[in-house]
Amino acid sequence: MPQHPKPAEGSWTQHYPELGTELVSYKDSISPEFYELEREAIFKRAWLNVGRVEQVPRNGTYFTKELPVVGTSILVTRAMDGRIRAFHNFCRHRGNKLVWKDFPRDEVSGSARQLVCKFHGWAYDLDGACAFVQQEGEFFDLDKARFGLVPVHCDVWEGFIFVNFDREPSQSLREFLGPMILGMEGYPFERQTERYYFRSEVRSNWKICLDAFQEFYHAPVLHQAQLPAALAVPRRKAGYEAPHYQIDGPHRVVTTAGSLHRVWEMPPELVRPSERVTRSGLFGPWEAPDLGELPPGVNPGKVHPWGLSSFQIFPNFAILIWHHGFYNTYHYWPTSHGTHVFDVNIYSVPAKTARERVGREMAAVAFKDFTLQDANTLEATQQGLEARFTDWFPLNDQEVLCRHSHKMAYQWVGEYQRERRKG
Ligand code: FES
Ligand SMILES: [Fe+2]
Repeated sequence: MPQHPKPAEGSWTQHYPELGTELVSYKDSISPEFYELEREAIFKRAWLNVGRVEQVPRNGTYFTKELPVVGTSILVTRAMDGRIRAFHNFCRHRGNKLVWKDFPRDEVSGSARQLVCKFHGWAYDLDGACAFVQQEGEFFDLDKARFGLVPVHCDVWEGFIFVNFDREPSQSLREFLGPMILGMEGYPFERQTERYYFRSEVRSNWKICLDAFQEFYHAPVLHQAQLPAALAVPRRKAGYEAPHYQIDGPHRVVTTAGSLHRVWEMPPELVRPSERVTRSGLFGPWEAPDLGELPPGVNPGKVHPWGLSSFQIFPNFAILIWHHGFYNTYHYWPTSHGTHVFDVNIYSVPAKTARERVGREMAAVAFKDFTLQDANTLEATQQGLEARFTDWFPLNDQEVLCRHSHKMAYQWVGEYQRERRKG
């Protein structure tokens, strides 16, 4: 795997000369036309994570996922043959949405041998085959075999289910993920099945939210209220530098050092009573589960002591692996050029005692607190960008991943436009 240690001279950004160091335009985040291009160029061509295998735990289970960014709803199934597949969640008769309960835009999950359309009763097996047509004899030479659910390319990596809406994806999922992301392989994702989840609808472009979580320049300032004053003031003065950044194709990772995360080593008067009592907080329960030896790729910069690695998988998915025995994910699902849905999942090995359970919940709540603090700036930033009071913004070396993510958006859109012009 290519290693990109910070050179003795220069900077992270200069280590990737293709990024340049110029001012950056955020027109990609305020333009309805650019958003329409992103939908075609990025979201209909990249592999998108839509869930995990635990959501289809047995043969005969399924879940639906609304994907307004590509204008569809999908159905992910584990059929009786055990294989995981994805389909457009619509009936082949007259296009009614196939799987939904009370409200057609709500996501659902369940188990069934067959899925039956509410409109005229056509039924489908979970492998997509059309199994039953009501009053079949009324149709004209209808061959059921030609009216299965319309499949979507689907593949699974380390339990993460990905789909691709390209007619013929130009890369397999593994080729798309590339060596840096594949370096996480072997991390025990499958053992961490206890999940805390929250979703917010945010009035900002999806990339503005992504940016808020791929730099830590903001940390000592934006999150200062989360620290006791005795720590917050010196930290703010010192600023913060992440010890490792790496870019591989369209994907990115930033790693933090572990020293900040050892709340339990701080003098007790500096630790919140709620954290002391539950022995847990933002960085997870203090007694971390033993996950065994982790694959070296989860800490690609070999940072010691290591805190967390935040992998940004293009375009809208992040996996954060924490030193302290858990991981979490972010998804940024655009709903328009100026709005998106932000999904957060926190995963850990299931608690075995009530104390462990309380610790997990405390960690999830603390995590949500921080995350919403980050999200709090998004609408204000979007407003600033849309005011168009300037066209260009300076990004520093700690914001190298923000620079890269906008570059990727412009690049994928640019390639798509060139291909279209060629016809
Ligand atoms: S639309 Fe589904 S059975 Fe008619
Ligand atoms: Fe933050």
